[in-house]
Amino acid sequence: MHPEIILETKNVHAGYGESQILWGMDLKAQRGKVTTIMGRNGVGKTTFLRTIMGLVRTKDAILFNNEEIQKRSTYKRAKKGIGYVPQGREIISKLTVYENILIGAESRKDSVRSFDEDEIYGLFPVLKDFRNRLGGNLSGGQQQQLAIARALAGKPDLLILDEPTEGIQPSITIEIAGVLNKLVEKGLSILLVEQKPDFARRLSDYYYIMDRGKVIRHSEKEKMDFDELKKLLSV
Ligand SMILES: Nc1ncnc2c1ncn2[C@@H]1O[C@H](COP(=O)(O)OP(=O)(O)OP(=O)(O)O)[C@@H](O)[C@H]1O
Ligand SMILES: [Mg+2]
Repeated sequence: MHPEIILETKNVHAGYGESQILWGMDLKAQRGKVTTIMGRNGVGKTTFLRTIMGLVRTKDAILFNNEEIQKRSTYKRAKKGIGYVPQGREIISKLTVYENILIGAESRKDSVRSFDEDEIYGLFPVLKDFRNRLGGNLSGGQQQQLAIARALAGKPDLLILDEPTEGIQPSITIEIAGVLNKLVEKGLSILLVEQKPDFARRLSDYYYIMDRGKVIRHSEKEKMDFDELKKLLSV
């Protein structure tokens, strides 16, 4: 039993049909910490997160709170307390901001189909102002905040984010980092995929570096060699 580990993957293999992408992913994410996965384009970061969520299947062990979840549906995994913010955000453009957030509440453990508006809008005031606008009419940065709000509406213990800064202006990324730090202070655990070293450094406690479907380095932030990291990430 490792109560300090919220998520663990053991030698996880996965892919799409004949094309194998993950070649034995071993990762441990500590409770209450930010674990960050970095790696060049196409190495399998998104595939790994999708495998954790059950959107890509594996036979190998994925433990959430010490319980094997690899046979569970995506909905059950969400309901157990994993919130997922996908790459590209996947906002439903024809639904309002409020309705998009409400979708996230579907996976609350207590099955209450509403969200704490003071809490969510307190974190992202712009979403309160725009709550009746269609998701499709928001800017990229606002949609990213909406995607995070939607995941938080499910009251997750672990929040998984896939490149939340992609295509977003720096002022909003700093705002998002601030919100995430606040949530971690309150006890949320985060698994982050990020390509921008500056954003990663604002948040991360522990780093994993991926290449071709495997972990090639992992280290706590204090021991991370950022010059080497830059070399590993450059094409
Ligand atoms: N639905 C799919 N079907 C087949 N192959 C896929 C699919 N999605 C991704 N791939 C392939 O899997 C490999 C890993 O892709 P993945 O999106 O996991 O990488 P990534 O590290 O997240 O990249 P990026 O940094 O660009 O987001 C790539 O070669 C990609 O072409
Ligand atoms: Mg990706």
